[in-house]
Amino acid sequence: MTNIGVLASGRGSNFQSIIDSVEEGYLDRVAIKLVISDNGNARALERAEKHGIDNIYINPGDFDDDRDFEEEMISVMEDRDVDLVVMAGFMRILSPFFIRHYRNRVMNIHPSLLPSFQGLHPHKQALEYGVKVSGCTVHFADEGVDSGPIILQKAVPVKDDDTEDSLAARVLEEEHKIYPEAIKLYSEERLKIEGRRVMID
Ligand code: GRF
Repeated sequence: MTNIGVLASGRGSNFQSIIDSVEEGYLDRVAIKLVISDNGNARALERAEKHGIDNIYINPGDFDDDRDFEEEMISVMEDRDVDLVVMAGFMRILSPFFIRHYRNRVMNIHPSLLPSFQGLHPHKQALEYGVKVSGCTVHFADEGVDSGPIILQKAVPVKDDDTEDSLAARVLEEEHKIYPEAIKLYSEERLKIEGRRVMID
């Protein structure tokens, strides 16, 4: 079994797709041990509650610095034997300290075809640039922002009349498929990292 710990700051629709995939038996080798949020009002916490999943709000403001905050996150995850950390709309950048602790065991999803449009507002960036295709990327997190080895990507068309919201909705539908898929591959030990490349068995 792969024990996962989810980090989420907001809506939690990707988290929900992971919950559903476990409950439906698609992720049959995955146990969601807990969700941690840095936002006490995150819908992700309510979703966890509804599904009987341990949910913890850790207020960054209660800590002297990011290091202390991250040590607290690590400590609650270690208490629950978390193997894989899944960032699902977690709006903070993890420090090199955290990344080193969970080297190659932190996944993130970003709503663009990386390395295009890293950081905030990827859909706005995509529309402004005028790309005809956008999409989403699941990758291992490294010390950079949206920069680690890529596990899965899915493309979607950009339409002439797209707004940020309509493009985001089209991309999100695919996010909800590829995140569970990437976690499944991990849980079946089918991912092998060679430099920047992730080989799928
Ligand atoms: C998603 O688009 C994800 O790719 C990005 O933040 C958004 C989070 O949405 N990192 P949700 O909280 O999973 O609904």
